[in-house]
Amino acid sequence: MIVAVDGYSSTGKSTVAKLIAARLGLTYIDTGAMYRAVTLEALRRGLIDGEGRIDEEGLRGCLGEVRVGFRYNEERGQSETCLNGETVEEEIRGMRVADRVSGVAALGFVREFLVGQQREMARSGDVIMDGRDIGSVVFPEAEVKFFMTASPEVRAERRYRELLAKGTEVSYEEVKANVEKRDYIDSHREVGPLRRTEDAVVVDNSDMTVEEVVEMMVGIIRERTGRRGEKEGGRV
Ligand code: DC
Repeated sequence: MIVAVDGYSSTGKSTVAKLIAARLGLTYIDTGAMYRAVTLEALRRGLIDGEGRIDEEGLRGCLGEVRVGFRYNEERGQSETCLNGETVEEEIRGMRVADRVSGVAALGFVREFLVGQQREMARSGDVIMDGRDIGSVVFPEAEVKFFMTASPEVRAERRYRELLAKGTEVSYEEVKANVEKRDYIDSHREVGPLRRTEDAVVVDNSDMTVEEVVEMMVGIIRERTGRRGEKEGGRV
């Protein structure tokens, strides 16, 4: 079974997808983390300059050596993103990567590389996958598709609080500009742009709590798939 959760940035996709995974015994896959990890690799290799220009040939040449995966951290009780075996969970969430990831995610060869891996990951079980093109490109045949949205102000505020909580020095204006810029690039790129498919259920959570959103989505998944399985061992 595949549940696709697409939508704008900072709409709470990963928060609710993780909770739904735990409730229904699905494996959660964060595809944004995969684009972030490739971006981090490009930055580390000096393939993105100060203006955000990407050395595409250089990146294409090294993709074969880039392994992105997830490892379950027993202590923290959550899965963490790995880049060539190293845990990079913290680093990929910072502004340095956030500022450049949309440019990297707009490259066709990067998308082809990661979409292939995402399809592979879903072979071995039931998954809930969050991203921008899951229902439209990666799994057009997904059993249930959601499209998450919330007002830009609410999203910027959530992201701002998240960064502050992590001790990042950043202004609300900077965060709002980053959220808006990423949404623009993500929706206007040629390959796999963010778009709502007709069969996706729109979830506008501007005025909903996380619990309300999860309840609603779990209800829809159950209705459509007949899946009951509370806590069947899903890992997030
Ligand atoms: O969900 P996120 O904010 O972690 O995603 C990071 C970036 O990666 C975002 O700018 C859009 C891009 N992305 C994408 O293009 N396709 C996906 N399936 C997931 C994320």
